[in-house]
Parts: sequence; structure tokens; C-alpha cells
Amino acid sequence: MKKLANTEVKINKLLAERWSPRAFNPEFIIDNELLLSLLEAARWAPSCYGDQPWRFIIFQKQDITPWVSALNCLSVGNQNWAMDSSMLIVICANKVFDHNEESNRWAQYDTGASAENICLQAVSLGLSTHQMGGFDEEKIRNLSNIPEQFDILSIMAVGQALKESKFTEEQTQKEKTPRKRRALNEIYFNNKWK
Ligand SMILES: Cc1cc2nc3c(=O)[nH]c(=O)nc-3n(C[C@H](O)[C@H](O)[C@H](O)COP(=O)(O)O)c2cc1C
Repeated sequence: MKKLANTEVKINKLLAERWSPRAFNPEFIIDNELLLSLLEAARWAPSCYGDQPWRFIIFQKQDITPWVSALNCLSVGNQNWAMDSSMLIVICANKVFDHNEESNRWAQYDTGASAENICLQAVSLGLSTHQMGGFDEEKIRNLSNIPEQFDILSIMAVGQALKESKFTEEQTQKEKTPRKRRALNEIYFNNKWK
């Protein structure tokens, strides 16, 4: 299902087409070529000092035991729909710069940019993404042995959006809720705050 952004002025098609579905095709498997294409997109995000603080842990449905373990780290509400996606990406940020080992206060900013690159590349490949903050951080840290130096920012579900004709009634209700955004003139100021 498409859920195009209802924009006040025209924006790039890729941006307008990205949205976060909860109804995924449970049969769909992401092959290595698609996976690498998403990660390559992440790799080319800008970052402070070119530090590239992002790291990703990949869980694919075809590797069923770790997949189920990762799914169990999500909140129950997220598990209910993310189980139908094809891949979970745990998104981590290095809190410390590589070049001088000092605190990197832009690590989260940069890692967010790399995550958005994944989302947009996914749209260009006919895939969909849905990022989640609803997960047990300690559980996923232990499961994947993620060092304390790395913040765990989100877990992203990736898959193929389910065709509307296959929606259950509950999915129809959830997927059809309108997307909301603040008005354009609410999010920026000229020269001074307000
Ligand atoms: C960091 C982050 C955390 C999120 N956490 C959740 C979550 O735990 N569960 C969920 O269903 N959606 C989650 N979302 C998805 C947002 O609700 C969604 O992006 C927002 O409503 C805008 O919708 P759109 O992505 O379709 O434009 C999260 C998104 C982001 C960026």
C-alpha cells in the first residue's frame, strides 16, 4: 500500500513515498544483494569529522533462531507486526570519536542520517522500513554483545509492504490512519526563535 505524504509544496518522490507500514508480507525474504544495497546507502551518510559512528547488527528471518531472539527484544506491541517483516536492523552509534577517543556529541545525529539513508534506499528498491524505539535495550545488548561504548538507538524492521487486498480488518484500520505532520510554518523561524 502506498501512503504518499500530503505535502504543502512538492518534494522528491522518494521522500514522499517513504512511510512506516505495520503490515508486511510475511513470505518475503531479503536477499544479500538488497541487504548490501541498504548498507551501502547507510555508508554514504555525512558525519562529523567523517567518523562514521554508525554500526548495524542484522537479523534476517531466514536465520530463524537469532531472528526469534531479536524479535523477543521488541515490545509486545511491536512484535505483533514486526514478526511479518523480513529483517531487523539494530542501529548503534559509537559515542567516542575514532581519531581522538573523545566524546562524540554528534554520533546520534550522524547515525540518524545513516538510518534515513537506509529508509530511502529501501523505498527505491520497493521495500519498506519501520523504525522502533520500543525495545528492551539491555536484552538486545546482551544478545548481540554490543559494547557499552555504543548507544543502541533503534531497531528497524525492513520488508515488503503487504498488498492491501491481503489486509485483515485490523490491518486495514491501522494502515489507513492518516499521516500527520506539523504545518510547514510551525517548524522554522526566520532569524530569531518565534
Ligand atoms: C526513533 C523512532 C522510534 C519509533 N518507535 C516506534 C515504535 O516503537 N513502534 C512503532 O510502531 N513505531 C515507531 N516509530 C515510527 C513512528 O511512529 C513513525 O515514523 C511516525 O509516526 C511517522 O510516520 P511515517 O514514518 O509513516 O511518516 C518510531 C520512529 C522513529 C524514528
